[in-house]
Amino acid sequence: MRIDIFTLFPQWFNWFFQQRHLTNAIQSRGLAVRLFNYRDYSPLSNGQVDDTPFGGGAGMLLRVDVVCAALSGVYGGSCEAVREKLPVFLLSPRGRRLGSDLLDELAQRRDFALLCGRYEGFDQRISDHLSTEEISIGDYVLSGGELAAMVVVDALARRIPEALGGENSALFESFSPGLGGRREYPQYTKPASFQGWQVPEVLLSGNHAEIGKWRREHLG
Ligand code: ADE
Repeated sequence: MRIDIFTLFPQWFNWFFQQRHLTNAIQSRGLAVRLFNYRDYSPLSNGQVDDTPFGGGAGMLLRVDVVCAALSGVYGGSCEAVREKLPVFLLSPRGRRLGSDLLDELAQRRDFALLCGRYEGFDQRISDHLSTEEISIGDYVLSGGELAAMVVVDALARRIPEALGGENSALFESFSPGLGGRREYPQYTKPASFQGWQVPEVLLSGNHAEIGKWRREHLG
């Protein structure tokens, strides 16, 4: 899977992509990520990328001509044809809410692009003519789409077995098919007793049938 991220702040991702589960996913070739700065493709003087909204209003909007130039510059051809080659998702609080169903759909994709917004948002023509779908990570407004892009990448990378050191932990985590889409059961580790807070006795019993029964009963 290759994810192309378009942003005005690629440096935001420096720390993120140094994290072990992501370097594992990338080294295993299960995941490739490319970062593109809209500003590098701006056809305007001084690398301008934003402008004031027609009709007035607060803040600045990302310009459609700048996003068009970035898409054409990276993929070639006309910018409106890019979404016929690969899905182009716009990160926006107005989008479809990210949940395990949407993540399942994204996980099926080979390549896709994520467009991060900044300032007050996007010129609507970016959504109408250049993107496939808008995605939101929740009903709140972030200062840009970068954190939302990280959420998407992180949640997808967990599904690549090498990301988690080859463990199967993602197969049986909350919302996974392994748990029937339900929330994971509670888990405990040592010490078995701490300040009088006891780990449920059955989990210490070594009786796997009973442990499995307890876990099924405690799915969220
Ligand atoms: N950009 C700003 N807020 C956002 C949100 N809630 N989800 C996705 N992208 C965003």
